Amino acid sequence: MSKRAATYRNWNVEARVYTYLDAPESQEFVASRIMAINPASVLDIGSYRGALWGRLLQIGYRGTYTGVEIAGKPLAVAMTRYGHYDARHDFIHADAREIRLPPAEFVTIGGVFWYFDGPEARAFIAKVWEETGCKWILVSDPERCKNDLYKMEGPGIEHGTFVMPVETRNASRKYIFFDASAKEAVH
Ligand SMILES: C[S@@+](CC[C@H](N)C(=O)[O-])C[C@H]1O[C@@H](n2cnc3c(N)ncnc32)[C@H](O)[C@@H]1O
Repeated sequence: MSKRAATYRNWNVEARVYTYLDAPESQEFVASRIMAINPASVLDIGSYRGALWGRLLQIGYRGTYTGVEIAGKPLAVAMTRYGHYDARHDFIHADAREIRLPPAEFVTIGGVFWYFDGPEARAFIAKVWEETGCKWILVSDPERCKNDLYKMEGPGIEHGTFVMPVETRNASRKYIFFDASAKEAVH
């Protein structure tokens, strides 16, 4: 595990509460991208307190959802709010790099690449394609995140920015979206 990821596991998210990420509305951009495609299944890597599942429920998503979260405290909040598991959703407490990821059509990875460097990030994206069998991957982070993953260009790769619709100092986020035709570019 990289030093920064270890720090994340042991201190940062365990100790801090990012209240602006608590509101389901904070996930509006990601949720609307998901709804535009309407996949049968979503995997949310870095699910924090479960706000994306909350937003998907609010806007009538009908498929299944799995959240994977490395930090126990925010995950416990998600499980208290929504339950650990039912036929529609599941929350898994794990470092997403260390488990075999479950199948999903659409994978979203939000606020996670702050903590992995470029080659490790690319290897993780390749693992996501391979293990989940997904057709779409949406990665988003605060705009100041310098991860080299965001420099990727090619067919099936879309870049953009969006503003979180909740009050926060770091509202501007960037994203990179891969469709299945980008798969070969990420090794
Ligand atoms: C800042 S929050 C972002 C929450 C939400 N996904 C978003 O984009 O607004 C990032 C979350 O990713 C989690 N995380 C970081 N590295 C992870 C890993 N390797 N596996 C699973 N979760 C991870 C953190 O613990 C944290 O809860």
